[in-house]
Amino acid sequence: MSDATHEVHLHDPQMLYRHWEESQWSPWDIDLSNDREQWAAMEDRSLVVFVLGSLMVAEERITTKFSGLVGADGSEEEITFLATQQVDEARHMQFYARFQDEVVSEPALIAAHVQRARQQVSPAFQTIFDDKLVAAHERLCANPGDRAAKVAFVTIYHLILEATLGLTTFEFSTRFMAREGLLAGFVEGYTKIHHDEHRHIGYGIWFLRQAVAESPEMGDVVRQTLRELLPAVAESLTPPAGADASVLGASTDDLRAFALDGLTRRLKIVGVPLDTL
Ligand SMILES: [Fe+2]
Ligand SMILES: [Fe+2]
Repeated sequence: MSDATHEVHLHDPQMLYRHWEESQWSPWDIDLSNDREQWAAMEDRSLVVFVLGSLMVAEERITTKFSGLVGADGSEEEITFLATQQVDEARHMQFYARFQDEVVSEPALIAAHVQRARQQVSPAFQTIFDDKLVAAHERLCANPGDRAAKVAFVTIYHLILEATLGLTTFEFSTRFMAREGLLAGFVEGYTKIHHDEHRHIGYGIWFLRQAVAESPEMGDVVRQTLRELLPAVAESLTPPAGADASVLGASTDDLRAFALDGLTRRLKIVGVPLDTL
């Protein structure tokens, strides 16, 4: 580990919790009236529909497959922070559902929006969110004191879903929408979600670094989890078939390079450099 890695300062769960108290927002405070007008007049919606649908499905999974982490062994400060993360994820899901209710579709239960959006997600997406995430969550729920189960879950959830896939999706989709002057209300809500995500990712990196420092075999758990998931992650960072990906202004290689760069930096901080995988 280099000296620079030692110097990285990460907020602990108590500080992250205090940041949460100062960062409240409501999905209903965002004005979506211009988005609604713009949506009605939009000619090619395929890429935006794909992004919105993927976010709707992902956030539903991420909200409903989380409680095992709140219930796993951890300090009172850690559990406090994780309880706030669970509220954040539900809030994010509510924002995407409100957007479906008021802009994309008709008012409906969240399950109906998720079911509709599910028709377009890729097999790789299903592997990650329906197989791997669900299995890791069930394992942690059944074994709340199992450190390896907690490390595997945080590797999938915080390091892969939130940091690698989530930050990449945010970067390229908001860059595209800002350039095209599209859906300012959506971008405002998504940006607030993005700020929350930084807090969540901060927790994940803090936890993994501590777990690996305490017992090096936890580094092997991180490595094994990544080896199993990275092919599906790379596959899911591909624009959908049928959508005009050129309008994104970025290639699949650009998306993957951005994702890999972030993952490389975070793994170095955790103490499991990518080249040791
Ligand atoms: Fe979220
Ligand atoms: Fe999150």
